[in-house]
Amino acid sequence: MRDQAERLREKVQQTAAHGGRQTRLITVTSGKGGVGKSNVTLNFALGLVETGQKVVVFDVDLGLANLDVLMGISARYHLLDILYKDVTLWEIMEKGPQGLEFIAGGSGFTQFLQLDEQKIGKLLDQLSLLQGYADTVLLDTGAGISKESMQFILCSDEVFLVTTPEPTAITDAYAVIKMIHSRNPHTQIKLIINRSSSPREAKHTADKLTMVAKKFLGMDVQTLGFVDDDPAVSLAVKQQRPFLMAYPHSQAAKSIRSLVRAHLGGAVAGQTETGGLRSFLSKIRDMIR
Ligand SMILES: Nc1ncnc2c1ncn2[C@@H]1O[C@H](COP(=O)(O)OP(=O)(O)O)[C@@H](O)[C@H]1O
Ligand SMILES: [Mg+2]
Repeated sequence: MRDQAERLREKVQQTAAHGGRQTRLITVTSGKGGVGKSNVTLNFALGLVETGQKVVVFDVDLGLANLDVLMGISARYHLLDILYKDVTLWEIMEKGPQGLEFIAGGSGFTQFLQLDEQKIGKLLDQLSLLQGYADTVLLDTGAGISKESMQFILCSDEVFLVTTPEPTAITDAYAVIKMIHSRNPHTQIKLIINRSSSPREAKHTADKLTMVAKKFLGMDVQTLGFVDDDPAVSLAVKQQRPFLMAYPHSQAAKSIRSLVRAHLGGAVAGQTETGGLRSFLSKIRDMIR
């Protein structure tokens, strides 16, 4: 009990110290599953932590939630416990490595959007406590084509789309771009090419997608960068440790750090500011009305 109270006090102080800072929200998705979305999300999050950011990762991959497994932690609570066990957001957030914080969506998360307005309202109120507390919130979604993932994607201003250079993954990534374009063309989509065997292959993959999106949809899709195909990733997964920490000098870790630099550099270079977490939560609120 004392622990909990102390933790709460710590949070309140941190939130206050943060002032009214805007919390950035990034939704990470992919066309097909198994392309490395969760590994990219987790290690990118840790890369942001290394730069001094306060980061929260939120696992909303329905059914295939496994961010906790990748970190070797097991969450005591998941989001819906806010409704059913009367716990607060601060209690359901788990501490991951390096001060990274983690929220489990849980398998019951499928029901999220079917909940009544009052219940969703309560969840959104709790999630809005992250506003100003975190610098960045990362959502790890399921494959983008599923209805549930699409709801979150359509409420996000900034989407990282992960694909591998395999034609099947590229085709499915394009399907996600098309779907986003038809419903919300102003979304900033940023490609991450994972498991590329060379910078040349990664560039080729990214160019193919951005060119097709431009030509057939008139949509500007940006490329954030690539992550090398690296045996260190699988080794780290087996140890249930993020590769950025287990193998900090691996190619995969190096590419994650350059992704982070590209991401932060882009913001400095005056890219369009996104609405962040605040806008995301208010769009979800509107969607369920
Ligand atoms: N950059 C990479 N290099 C080598 N293997 C990778 C890489 N990224 C992912 N993998 C492999 O793919 C598996 C699935 O990754 P995961 O992040 O769980 O995918 P997703 O979340 O898209 O389903 C990992 O367990 C790992 O073995
Ligand atoms: Mg995953």
